[in-house]
Amino acid sequence: MQPASDIVLIGPMGSGKSTVAKLLATRLGWEAVDLDALIEHEAGQTIAEIFRREHETGFRKREHSALVAALGGRRVIATGGGVVLDARNRALIEARSVCIWLDATAEALGLRLHSETARRPLLHGVEINARLQELDAVRRPLYEETARLRVDTSDADAETVARRIATELDGLQ
Ligand code: S3P
Repeated sequence: MQPASDIVLIGPMGSGKSTVAKLLATRLGWEAVDLDALIEHEAGQTIAEIFRREHETGFRKREHSALVAALGGRRVIATGGGVVLDARNRALIEARSVCIWLDATAEALGLRLHSETARRPLLHGVEINARLQELDAVRRPLYEETARLRVDTSDADAETVARRIATELDGLQ
């Protein structure tokens, strides 16, 4: 299937959005866009530096601008886990994309994230599992209201997840 709008992947840190976006984009012959990479490119700074200099507020402003810039049609866009916090982002994603929520159990996320904190200042210097739980309590309802499909990635590799999304897309148009 070839929907005209973009596909936006949302979900917690460690759910596999960036990898799945690349694989799904290849399947569809679309462009993959990683919002965090776009933010870093635009800012000329890493995500960690942006959080240090501009705090989370500055990062969220950049994240909104990057989302606006990224939506363009026939793109698979991997977002950061907190993109749904801004109501403007949720409205944009709902209006302009087919939104898929990549989810995973707390156990799976914890295991994947232990060695993956470089781009994730929200995980620096804290107990990762407790922080993930706090974030989940706030964000889960927002993922739920924004996405049209939830895919559990806990026990699936990225290729399997991409294939599953590709086969479900027809029903989501
Ligand atoms: C964040 C998730 C990160 C990155 C930033 C903030 C969040 O992206 O955008 O560190 O608020 O959950 P990933 O979800 O790709 O890890």
